[in-house]
Amino acid sequence: MADETQHRLAPSTLAVSAGRPPRDPGAPVNTPPVLSTTYAAGGPVSYARVGNPTWTSFEEVLAALEGPGTRAIAFASGMAAIAAVVDLVPVGGLVLGQTIAYSGTRGLLARHSAAGRLRLTEVPPTTADLVAAVAAGTALVWLESPTNPTLHVIDIAAVAAVAHAQGALVVVDSTFATPLGQHSLDLGADVVVHSATKYLSGHSDVLLGAAVVRSPELADGLVQRRIMAGGIPGPMETWIALRGLRTFPLRWERSCATAAELARRCQSHPAVRRVRHLALPDDPGHALAARQMSAYGAIVSVDLHGGADAAEQVAASTQVWLHATSLGGVESTLERRRRWPEESPEVPDGLLRLSVGLEDVDDLWVDLREALDRVR
Ligand SMILES: Cc1ncc(COP(=O)(O)O)c(C=O)c1O
Repeated sequence: MADETQHRLAPSTLAVSAGRPPRDPGAPVNTPPVLSTTYAAGGPVSYARVGNPTWTSFEEVLAALEGPGTRAIAFASGMAAIAAVVDLVPVGGLVLGQTIAYSGTRGLLARHSAAGRLRLTEVPPTTADLVAAVAAGTALVWLESPTNPTLHVIDIAAVAAVAHAQGALVVVDSTFATPLGQHSLDLGADVVVHSATKYLSGHSDVLLGAAVVRSPELADGLVQRRIMAGGIPGPMETWIALRGLRTFPLRWERSCATAAELARRCQSHPAVRRVRHLALPDDPGHALAARQMSAYGAIVSVDLHGGADAAEQVAASTQVWLHATSLGGVESTLERRRRWPEESPEVPDGLLRLSVGLEDVDDLWVDLREALDRVR
């Protein structure tokens, strides 16, 4: 390669090659789960709540996927990462959030607001609503794009420009987009958070989260919060997630392709009122997603004519799809999100969230179509 210094490695290469031990003769290929609470004095790590080599490998891979100059910080769960980021808000600070977003995030912000820890304004998840709601003195704008479970897409650059003019910090929960589908920091976010429980680890066997930043001050603030709060990621969990991360690009590509095909097929089923998937040309989020994302994602939202009863019936009767919460695993799952009382009342009652895994597309379709046929 003549131009080797200019060549940027592709995500699939980075996922495999980043975060490895040095290639010394006889060295292991993989970072092991390092199970040690203390370390010989004088080195970079002193104590297990402060650092861990398995965290470092995971963080190096994730940062490589988010882009040059980024720093990833692993947390015990997506919510632990979110809680640490929310803790950056000064006491009494004004937070702007969305009326549709992951229910755990909305619940955390609402609790802090009720306790007087911060002031919360929630607006519908549209770019126009968010831009209009950024007020003087806003401390933090919490974006989730695409939204769980309705797949609203927010113009991150547009909101960030207005928010930064007011001195606000912009956070994007990019769990649905993943670092392969969206570079939120390049679009203007100061912090991106991921529930690594989902696509990044990918096998529904581990809870993990991460925050990714460019600013060294923000990185330091988040690391300090991880040390002080003490709810650190376990080395075994981090190792399992790191193992999953190696195959993430391959899994993501396949799941996104299958999701787009299933969304297309769902559109013509008579039991279906509305299908949302960002690859559909007539989806309201398609044009913006095409501009700011590099993949349309692996979630399909299907709203049924028969409402809650029909959605529950479908969820209970599939054989290949697993009726379960969570998403981003190798196995396809589905659930009616409004079965959870904490879900936003703005989410349609009959909305089924489909998380598309790695099974054969025709097997998934036949199973889903038969379940939909039964509620026609
Ligand atoms: C968009 C989104 N963000 C954050 C979380 C929380 O992640 P965790 O369950 O890893 O704490 C979830 C969990 O479902 C999620 O869907």
